[in-house]
Amino acid sequence: MITSIPDLMLGAILPGDSTTVLREYPVGKPGPGEVLLRVKASTICGSDIRCIYHEHLGKGPEGYQGVIAGHESAGQVVAVGPGCRSFREGDRAIVYHISGCGLCNDCRRGYMISCTDPLYRRAYGWQRDGGMAAYMIAEEKDLVRLPDELSYADGAQVACGFGTVYEGLEKIGICGNDAVLITGLGPVGLAAAALCKALGARKIIGIDAIKERLDIARNLKLCDEVLVAGPDNEKEVRSLTNGMGVERAVECSANPAARNTAIRAVRKWGKMVMLGEGGPMSLNPSPDMIHDQKTLYGSWVTSTWKMMELAERLVEWKLHPAELISHRFDLNRVSDAFKLMASGKCGKVAVCFDEELQS
Ligand SMILES: NC(=O)c1ccc[n+]([C@@H]2O[C@H](COP(=O)([O-])OP(=O)(O)OC[C@H]3O[C@@H](n4cnc5c(N)ncnc54)[C@H](O)[C@@H]3O)[C@@H](O)[C@H]2O)c1
Ligand SMILES: [Zn+2]
Ligand SMILES: [Zn+2]
Repeated sequence: MITSIPDLMLGAILPGDSTTVLREYPVGKPGPGEVLLRVKASTICGSDIRCIYHEHLGKGPEGYQGVIAGHESAGQVVAVGPGCRSFREGDRAIVYHISGCGLCNDCRRGYMISCTDPLYRRAYGWQRDGGMAAYMIAEEKDLVRLPDELSYADGAQVACGFGTVYEGLEKIGICGNDAVLITGLGPVGLAAAALCKALGARKIIGIDAIKERLDIARNLKLCDEVLVAGPDNEKEVRSLTNGMGVERAVECSANPAARNTAIRAVRKWGKMVMLGEGGPMSLNPSPDMIHDQKTLYGSWVTSTWKMMELAERLVEWKLHPAELISHRFDLNRVSDAFKLMASGKCGKVAVCFDEELQS
C-alpha cells in the first residue's frame, strides 16, 4: 500500500507530431463519486497511434483534447471521494476507458463508449486525463474490479483491447466448429487469437504484414497458421479450409485489402466482425455477402457488465493478457514506448509502475 501521496507528478501528453512530452501536474483530489488510483500499468493502443500520436486526426469521440494520454489502465485505489459506494482504498481496479453521462440509453446499457451526451461523455486519455501518469482520477462507476488472480498489466488490456475483442467475438459467436481468420495481428488481433483459442475455435489463421507480429503469434502458439499479408491471402485461407473458407473472421487491421480478404474468405453462412477502425472498404454486396448468406458486424469497445464477465472468464481460463506484452517501460521512457508501438515491431507495449515494472 502506498501511504504518502505526493502533490505533484509527471504525465505524458501527445502533441501530435510523433513525439511525447512529460509535464508536471498536480495529483488530483477525488471529488464526489470519484477515486484516486495509483496507476500500475497503462498499455498503448493502436488507436492512440492512429488518432493522436502521429497527428490529431480524431473527431468527436476520438478527438484528443491535450489531456494526459493513456486509455488502457489498471491501478490501485489510494483515496476515495465522498459518496463512493463500493470501492475502498487498497482495491484493485480496471478503468473502463470512457466515462459517460450514466443516464442516456447507451449508458444505461453499459455502453458508455457510445454515450450520446456531448457534455458528459469523456474518454480517459482523450477528453479527460488518462493513465500515462503515476496517478489518475476516475469515476467509481467506470471501475471494474480486478480479480486477485490477474495482474494490473492483465487488467490494463481488458480496459480496451481484450474487452473490445470479447464483445466482437460474442457478436459472431465462436465455438469448436469454427475455423477463424484474424486479419491484423497487432495487440487487438493477438487478443482475438488468444480469446478464440479459449473459446475452443478449431483452427485459427492469422495474417499480418510485419514479421515480428507473425513471430509472436507463432511463438505464443496463438495461431495454428500464420500468413504474410498479400494478394493471395483469400486463396491461401481457402486451401487451409478444404476450399470452403472460414466459419468466422475477425478484422483487426483496418487495412482495406485485409477487409476484402476477410469477407471473401468467409464461407457461406459465415460471420465476420469488423474491429479495426478508420479507412474505407470496397464491398460488393451481392457476391461478397448476399449470395453467400454472410453476416457482417461492426463492434465498438464493450459494456461495463461484459468487461466484468470477461475478468471472471479470464480467471477461469487461466488466460493472462499480459503475456502479449513484449516491452515494459517506466514513465520516464514513455517516448520510447510510443515510438516502439508506432513501429509495429512489438507485441503490446506497456508503461508500468511499482511491482508491474519488476515483472
Ligand atoms: N472497434 C473498437 O472498439 C476498437 C478498439 C480498440 C482498437 N481498435 C482498432 O483496432 C485496430 C487494431 O488495433 P491494434 O492496437 O492491434 O493496432 P495495430 O496498428 O498495432 O495493429 C494493426 C495490425 O494490422 C496489420 N496489417 C496492416 N496491413 C495488413 C494487411 N493487409 N493484412 C493483414 N494485416 C495487416 C499491421 O501490420 C498491424 O500489425 C486499430 O485500427 C484500432 O484503432 C478498435
Ligand atoms: Zn484502445
Ligand atoms: Zn450517456
